[in-house]
Amino acid sequence: MQRAKKIGVFDSGLGGISIYKELIKLLPREQFLYLADSKNAPYGNKPKAKIRELSRQNTEFLIQSGAKAIVVACNTATTQVINDLRKHYDIPFIGVEPAVKPAAEFSKNKKIGILATEGTLRSNLFQKTFNTYGDNIQAFIQVGTGLVELIELNKLNSAELKALLESYIHPMIKQEVDVLVLGCTHYPFLIPLIDEITHSQIKIFEPSAAVALQTKRILSKKGILNSGSDQKEGVDFFYTTGDTAILQSFIKVHAPNRTTRELPKT
Ligand code: DGL
Repeated sequence: MQRAKKIGVFDSGLGGISIYKELIKLLPREQFLYLADSKNAPYGNKPKAKIRELSRQNTEFLIQSGAKAIVVACNTATTQVINDLRKHYDIPFIGVEPAVKPAAEFSKNKKIGILATEGTLRSNLFQKTFNTYGDNIQAFIQVGTGLVELIELNKLNSAELKALLESYIHPMIKQEVDVLVLGCTHYPFLIPLIDEITHSQIKIFEPSAAVALQTKRILSKKGILNSGSDQKEGVDFFYTTGDTAILQSFIKVHAPNRTTRELPKT
């Protein structure tokens, strides 16, 4: 039965765990298949054709492993190729993109910072969203070069990461932005560090909770939501093309109460 199958989630690496964290909060009775394509991270500076190829590979792996729907937990893959995936595969896809609209509405001085990957920022989808909602705001747009790589190496507490992040955030502080949009699913892991750098004076927008809500809506609409009380919490399978130990350490921190199994993707 479709309903009893798992929800597939993929990202270029560990970033999608920030979305998975919200998914398990909202949908505790679902089981998940997560694919971290860490070997190929970052996706953000790759050409569209390569992102399409990798995203199709990820999708096929998840469908073969029994996914009933797929959360593309990567802004870069969503903004570049989610339409292609929807055309090619006959299951629902839920994506993630930078939260420009709520950020623009929230900003008092109409100055917002946007930190995202090159791939997301150059996508038509981002440009379209930005043109629709960014009209009356001044946006300070920064490509987060190097951040994903350091997060993938689990260097969250390193001086190197802090210095790099400061070099991106300080100019925004100077420009008096009051809102920062995190346009990459890896970046929510940086929130404590960003708060330290900004003294919590800049409101951060990241859409993981909204993605979880949208996932619930779509599954419910399609009649494949696993809400039955007869369904016990099961095992979430995590596959990685990279380092299993680093993946494990992230899951321990962000989903300590789930039963998970981490495996290399062969
Ligand atoms: N988590 C991906 C995203 O949201 C990271 C992109 C990358 O691999 O460069 O865009």
